Amino acid sequence: MADIQSANAPAPLVVRRQDYRPPDWLVPEIELDFLLDPACTTVRARLSVSRNGAHDRALRLDGDELTPVEVKVDGRPLGSGESKMDGGALIIPLSGGVHQVETLVELAPEHNSKLMGLYASGGLLCTQCEAEGFRRITFFPDRPDILSRYSVRMEADKTRYPILLSNGDPVAQGELSGGRHWARWTDPYPKPCYLFALVAGDLACNSDSFVTMSGREVKLGIWVKEADLSRTGHAMQALKNSMAWDERVYGREYDLDVFNIVAVADFNFGAMENKGLNIFNSRYILADPETATDADYDGVEGVVAHEYFHNWSGNRVTCRDWFQLSLKEGFTVFRDQNFSADMGSEAVKRIEDVRVLRAAQFQEDAGPLAHPVRPESYMEISNFYTATIYNKGAELIRMIALMLGPDRFRAATDLYFKRHDGEAATCEDFVRAMEEGGGVDLTQFRRWYEQAGTPHVRASLTHDPVTQTAELLLEQNTPPTPGQPEKLPFALPLRTALFDRGSGGSAGEMLLMLTQKQQRFTFKGFAVAPILSINRGFSAPVIVETDRSQADLAFLSAHDDDPFARYEAMQQLMVNALVGHVAGQALDAAAIITAIRDTVTDPHLDGAFIAEAIRLPSEAYLGDQMVQVDPDAIHEARDALQGRIGRELESLWRELHVRNRANGFSLSPAAKGARKLRNGALVYLVASGAADGAALAFSQFDEADNMTERQSALATLANGRSEEREAALDIFYNRYRDDPLTLDKWFQTQAFASHPDTVDLVEELGRHPDFTLANPNRVRSLFGAFAGNQWAFHHRSGKGYRLVADCIIALDKLNPQTAARLVPPLGRWRRFDEGRAGLMRSELQRILGQPGLSKDVTEQVSKSLD
Ligand code: TRP
Ligand code: ZN
Repeated sequence: MADIQSANAPAPLVVRRQDYRPPDWLVPEIELDFLLDPACTTVRARLSVSRNGAHDRALRLDGDELTPVEVKVDGRPLGSGESKMDGGALIIPLSGGVHQVETLVELAPEHNSKLMGLYASGGLLCTQCEAEGFRRITFFPDRPDILSRYSVRMEADKTRYPILLSNGDPVAQGELSGGRHWARWTDPYPKPCYLFALVAGDLACNSDSFVTMSGREVKLGIWVKEADLSRTGHAMQALKNSMAWDERVYGREYDLDVFNIVAVADFNFGAMENKGLNIFNSRYILADPETATDADYDGVEGVVAHEYFHNWSGNRVTCRDWFQLSLKEGFTVFRDQNFSADMGSEAVKRIEDVRVLRAAQFQEDAGPLAHPVRPESYMEISNFYTATIYNKGAELIRMIALMLGPDRFRAATDLYFKRHDGEAATCEDFVRAMEEGGGVDLTQFRRWYEQAGTPHVRASLTHDPVTQTAELLLEQNTPPTPGQPEKLPFALPLRTALFDRGSGGSAGEMLLMLTQKQQRFTFKGFAVAPILSINRGFSAPVIVETDRSQADLAFLSAHDDDPFARYEAMQQLMVNALVGHVAGQALDAAAIITAIRDTVTDPHLDGAFIAEAIRLPSEAYLGDQMVQVDPDAIHEARDALQGRIGRELESLWRELHVRNRANGFSLSPAAKGARKLRNGALVYLVASGAADGAALAFSQFDEADNMTERQSALATLANGRSEEREAALDIFYNRYRDDPLTLDKWFQTQAFASHPDTVDLVEELGRHPDFTLANPNRVRSLFGAFAGNQWAFHHRSGKGYRLVADCIIALDKLNPQTAARLVPPLGRWRRFDEGRAGLMRSELQRILGQPGLSKDVTEQVSKSLD
């Protein structure tokens, strides 16, 4: 008989990847029985457990805020002394190899403000288990390498909760006395507990079906409140497109007879891939032209695809431990990015994805929270659902796919899915499948999983007219990150082309592999020095530094045949001029204005691409290019350039604004492109200072038959001071005050406004009757948007820092996970002047001094202060 003292050591403060050990006990089967009620739900769990290997350690069941009402082993209730609590965990010594362990707990979902475990949202009861929420529902070894078959019985009041859903297939249901009813669902696929889900509520269903590649019919359901049913069409189409795409591109077929999606209003993240029962933040399901922008439509399509694709990359093949999170997230982001590219414009999708990567991930990689794609340690795993795990992780897969080419990449993913189906795998397993299936050696490439930080690649092109050769010198250097002072060179693929100044063409693209710290490439047959186009399509997630002149960049912005490179040349032109201006040089706008005019009038380019190319880099991105960020100078420089472009091309903007006005709403790529371009034109038109600017913006706001044009006009007005600004904000509020997702836009637009009073306005909005800390979308709309508004957040008074810190402190008591996500903007203090840095640090210290601070916020704040 195992000694009760010999249970596993208590959960340590820091979890390390190197400490991974296979589980002591497995749980092949679990039966769950829920008596659902918002005030008091009881959960009875029957676990069949089996000893894993020869050892005498007790069974340790994780629990978080759970009290065992009853514990039985093989049907016999345990007396005191036969089990014990260790922190939140329940320790049960067991003598044999297999046992049945039964526990009973009580939960109060209506008081669960963390939105992890079982909670109430808008009259529904729903669950969120990833990463460690299942332990808030029942005692269980809560780790992803324990795969169990689930059988779930739910019982509830039939009027309040007529719909009862869980994973897998519905197998039985029945009526009970007292207006109650029950349902049983079973999931034939063994799964880790983070994929468990249930939903109970009064829901309406958009039903459809999909016939899979082998001819099976799958019933699809999107469940929402009755009033929202008309807004589910886009999500349903996206789901069917995703199912077909995964069959065509990866050979992956759906594996259950039903697939359900539920939309909930209160959710910590975007959505969750629970097996057969995805649960979504309603903002990624609901869309109609009146309330959703084109970006919202794209968000719905992308997130529906992402969660669906997890059925293979995440569920059928899951993660051994949470250090392997990018195994499912990086790969699945890569898959959803390519899906969206296939559904719309590949070029524009790539531009958008790189913008997100640079804004979120490069910033993370350059700061105190930098970590490798496969981290070595964590205090709280929720803090590691980061841009590095997701977006940089996707870039690693993209590089592998590029190096392998489409056919070998497909062979490699086939091998990966076949070899690891039904398993909890590691990033190393994935890389090995890529090597074996793709026939390549990825030894050096593995460093991308181990080393944090964004590599800088210096590219210098020299030319010798005598030998007619061009020589490209590439040097890579990755700055130190926390715990990693020295970096080894990465293996990185650079799609490269050399352009001829005379003809404007190139001899085609080459794939250069940079593997050493310094490497030279020579190219023969160039009588005249060519122009370098490098990292085309953003083939490697690096910062390229070149000394290309403004003239060469202007050339590429007009001639490069890779759309991303063309966009990039344009952006670099703008960055150079703006960074130069902040450093005291005169603003050199001539080349930019010519390039913009040529781009806008190029008949071969589509509207969406043009709109991307002519848009000025954000203030935050400009800040990232500087050793020390000067938010005021950056704001002024960008404003000045925008005004100049606005004035010098005013007639062009007027013409574009009129010409791209649609006659009726459509979601076609052409219509979306026209709206994007029209909005871009309005920005420049208003920036020009034209007397009728505000009036034009107001009429666009007023007349729009879609949210894309309406919100864009509102945002443009919100940046300035005008009667129209106040009028439009009032109209918008009154029109949408009862629709939470649209009201979020009202908060967000004001919090993101480039307006001198934004900081005061955000303080006021924090006291608005419609503001609430209980809803993560609302918090992100106000304080998340504000913290991303460089000029306003970094107001030299420090008031912006105080507002965000106050929010973190208040929210931590309710929802630590969402509170912790607001910390990183304050952690960037090293990049600012002494005054701002001191104010930011003292807010971080104030947060850290709060009694009872969560592990989530403690980890982020203490790392940020280091
Ligand atoms: N696996 C989810 C996704 O990327 C992420 C997620 C959903 C999540 N809900 C969460 C992560 C709550 C942390 C906490 O699709
Ligand atoms: Zn995911």
